[in-house]
Amino acid sequence: MAPVMLRSACRIHTFVKTQNCVNLPCWSGLLSCGVLKQVGARPCSSQRVCISEPMPEQRSDSALYIPPSGVRGMTSLDREAFAWKVSVPALRLPKQVLNKLTKSLKRVALQRPGVKRVVEDGGDADHRLLLLDPASVSSPSSFGDAETEALGKFGVPLELQDYDLQLTYENLKSEEVLRAVLPEGQDVTSGFSRVGHIAHLNLREHQLPYRTLIGEVLMDKNPGVTCVVNKTNTIDSTYRNFQMEVLAGDGNMVAKVRENGWVYEFDFSRVYWNPRLSTEHERVVGLLRPGDTVVDVFAGVGPFAVPAARRGCDVLANDLNPDSYRWLQHNCKLNKAHGKVRAFNMDGRDFIRGPLREELPALLRGAGRVHVVMNLPALALDFLDAFRGLLGGRGPAENAGSLPRVHCYGFSKQDDPQKDVTQRASASLGSPLEGRCSVHLVRNVAPNKEMMCVSFALPEEVLFSDQSAEEGSPEEPAPKRQKCEDMTE
Ligand SMILES: C[S@@+](CC[C@H](N)C(=O)[O-])C[C@H]1O[C@@H](n2cnc3c(N)ncnc32)[C@H](O)[C@@H]1O
Repeated sequence: MAPVMLRSACRIHTFVKTQNCVNLPCWSGLLSCGVLKQVGARPCSSQRVCISEPMPEQRSDSALYIPPSGVRGMTSLDREAFAWKVSVPALRLPKQVLNKLTKSLKRVALQRPGVKRVVEDGGDADHRLLLLDPASVSSPSSFGDAETEALGKFGVPLELQDYDLQLTYENLKSEEVLRAVLPEGQDVTSGFSRVGHIAHLNLREHQLPYRTLIGEVLMDKNPGVTCVVNKTNTIDSTYRNFQMEVLAGDGNMVAKVRENGWVYEFDFSRVYWNPRLSTEHERVVGLLRPGDTVVDVFAGVGPFAVPAARRGCDVLANDLNPDSYRWLQHNCKLNKAHGKVRAFNMDGRDFIRGPLREELPALLRGAGRVHVVMNLPALALDFLDAFRGLLGGRGPAENAGSLPRVHCYGFSKQDDPQKDVTQRASASLGSPLEGRCSVHLVRNVAPNKEMMCVSFALPEEVLFSDQSAEEGSPEEPAPKRQKCEDMTE
């Protein structure tokens, strides 16, 4: 619905400057210092929107956009209930110089997507009204020198009028709608992430009664979003996918996304996908050379496997989740990478001690290098014990090439995450990695929780040890498993 503008009868402007609200007119008593404290939204990462208090120096126009108080507590979205008028200052400009003056007055003009700032001046065909931002203009003295000069040049008197601007649901941003509806003083939403056409939220307890409305508002306000879901638990402990409920939209969970130039399709309700890992996928793929072999132990739907194959590497990609395995194969075909990828559907440890053990001697004799990628940050460090004695009995001399390079991910909540993941990787391997590995900070997952990547050449004494993980080692006890509560993300 297009916004409707109504012009009020011309009123004598009343500029009120109070001690606390300097430079802000109380247009028709609408604005007060209190409303200036409304919170706004600012983007906090590429694909995530967070609602937060505005920075003190940010200009906020949200004071203008406070819908009628009657919408508070609404649980079923009634878009018509968000119709109200606000009084804004306006300047009457001759039509023939409108464009020139509008440019000169850009700083003080009302600027809001969906709201026309030039409107008819009643029945006067020779003039138009330029609507001004009340946060910038409180009286004729609010205009700067350049603006005053431009107006003077065309003989426009510095006379302000009140204009009753009709606003509707369409003129509001999603956070403004939600802030007006949800209980005062509580977080509107913790934000949402987007995967293709799906917006996924992590609603808090107090937001749940409004879940359907929140879903509809997000769909209305975000073009391209046709399905909104709420995560109903933290990430599933095995396959890393979320339990979720559909809040609004078509319920179609098969998403199509593009990452680093490659296309992936998958059922988001059944597999793991995290848009915040694209940089890490790109970083690791950047380490590969054509002719290398990539062994992806926890491959998901293929964000390492596909680009690695397209870079000219041979890929062995494994995932325990049958759905991931199917979408992995689908994505390899979709990106014409299937000729270079062999897919497996096994437990990671079995994969290392089965197919990888069989292939590794020949791979180590080849010209290319072997990279083992292990992205299951809650558990992957524990899986490193599977390499103990993997090629036991076959001396290093028999295997002329370079040792496999492992890239293993782990979460850390310790003060020194680098030291923490190095120690845990060393304990799991049964061999110290200090001074023989590099550690990369992938991302901050939560306050005090980092995702790290430890990269190292698999030590000879681990790979060719006579004692395998199955046999156990009295000196090196099996590393402690992380607690289930750490298995988020
Ligand atoms: C964090 S996701 C990473 C997926 C992908 N590599 C990426 O970067 O997006 C971990 C994957 O490991 C799989 N997984 C979980 N436990 C596993 C296991 N024991 N063995 C093999 N795969 C497992 C999950 O199904 C999930 O697809």
